[in-house]
Amino acid sequence: MAKLAEAESTSFVEWFRAAAPYIHAFRGKTFVLAFGGEAMLREDFVDLVYDINLLNALGVRLVLVHGVRPQVEERLAAEAQYVQGRRVTDADALEHVKDAVGSVRVDIESLLSVGLPNTPMAGADIRVASGNYVTAQPAGIVDGIDLQFTGEVRKIAVDPIRDRLNAGEIVLLSPLGYSPTGEVFNLTLEEVATHAAIALEADKLVFILDHGDTVDAKGHRINRVTAAQVTKLLRELPEGDMKLYLPHAAHACKKGVGKVHLISADVDGAVLMELFTHAGVGTMVTRQSVENLRPAKIDDVGGILSVIEPLEAEGILVRRSRERLEQEVEQFFVDELDGRIVGCVALYPFPETGAGEMACLAVAREFQRGGRGDALLTTVEEAAIELGLTQLFVLTTRTAHWFIERGFIQGQPEDLPAPRKALYNWQRRSKVLIKKLSV
Ligand SMILES: CC(C)(COP(=O)(O)OP(=O)(O)OC[C@H]1O[C@@H](n2cnc3c(N)ncnc32)[C@H](O)[C@@H]1OP(=O)(O)O)[C@@H](O)C(=O)NCCC(=O)NCCS
Repeated sequence: MAKLAEAESTSFVEWFRAAAPYIHAFRGKTFVLAFGGEAMLREDFVDLVYDINLLNALGVRLVLVHGVRPQVEERLAAEAQYVQGRRVTDADALEHVKDAVGSVRVDIESLLSVGLPNTPMAGADIRVASGNYVTAQPAGIVDGIDLQFTGEVRKIAVDPIRDRLNAGEIVLLSPLGYSPTGEVFNLTLEEVATHAAIALEADKLVFILDHGDTVDAKGHRINRVTAAQVTKLLRELPEGDMKLYLPHAAHACKKGVGKVHLISADVDGAVLMELFTHAGVGTMVTRQSVENLRPAKIDDVGGILSVIEPLEAEGILVRRSRERLEQEVEQFFVDELDGRIVGCVALYPFPETGAGEMACLAVAREFQRGGRGDALLTTVEEAAIELGLTQLFVLTTRTAHWFIERGFIQGQPEDLPAPRKALYNWQRRSKVLIKKLSV
């Protein structure tokens, strides 16, 4: 029992420490969090409210966008008519939409008002602002059918929303918009959320998926995707919220929203896992890859050590001390992903022989098999060519095939430049692999 408590406290302490950089990074940032009306019908909806409370407590400026689909459907007597995936909202349906929005909004406000002791909401004292922040216009006539009170977002009242956020309030937007002619229009939550995130220049837009998971057609998790990759991905995706939200996510990224996260409502603690852990549990959409392959700096030594130490412990890489790394850091290139070093490689030139040694090629275990090894190798090859070198060699005990598959051929210790040959460790008996560089 004591052991279990000890293990639990160790993982808690480790987790809490690991969250610190995110806590720093998120303070004062604007997040738009969108969830469907289905989310509110779930028993665990209160957990999402707790997470919203936590983000608010950490100083995140939060805009919530809710849906009302099931609540409207429940109220409608007749089945709704759809044109190109859009619901026709007649005057009667609009009354039900207004009714559902009012009721859902009050429910959300009341859940965010809880301050009971012995709950994560103790002492929360959250203020929620909602109102006529969204201006809409009619969607018009599509395929000869008048969509009536189905609308499109025309404008988001950015300054008034910012004022509320500056006052520390959470802003709650509904899928409704008001027109200057005094009419009300039915909108989709994804459209409101996307427009709000773009207009507010949000740092993050988060969609909670009610239907389906963040996986591809084969059931593999889609961890990261760039806006440019979305079109191709959409062709392969099965129907579900992922397919519904991805085009909006890509659009938001192209229009300047920092990152868009799609998270399944079925994963417990998904919002926190996605936002506060590096690997995440959902899909992150970014405009460009947030990966950066670059020459290393002295500040990267800690990050490089975290990648190579586990491999040194396994005997795959030769041990390098921190001091040695600090001295040689200028020989290194690092692969940085979201501020974390996930791979590295070093190039030691022997200009008098026209050869360069590639060493310490490593990718952190959880980031392997993503083409990063290849990218690091290409970087070193390009750097070597720039230095006027004509061949690259590498010494390895366990990764010979990886290099051979990439154009290296087996050589002998005798082929090494004299200064390197003198240091060759005959006990380790590493294989010498050589690649001619084509200029
Ligand atoms: C070698 C290494 C850098 C490749 O990184 P990576 O980002 O996974 O590389 P890529 O995604 O470009 O390539 C992955 C492929 O290499 C293969 N591979 C990985 N290790 C291998 C090895 N020891 N021998 C042969 N192939 C290997 C994988 O099976 C995968 O093949 P697949 O695409 O057919 O599934 C990484 O596996 C690593 O850090 N290994 C430990 C350190 C090491 O051995 N360094 C070399 C000595 S200097």
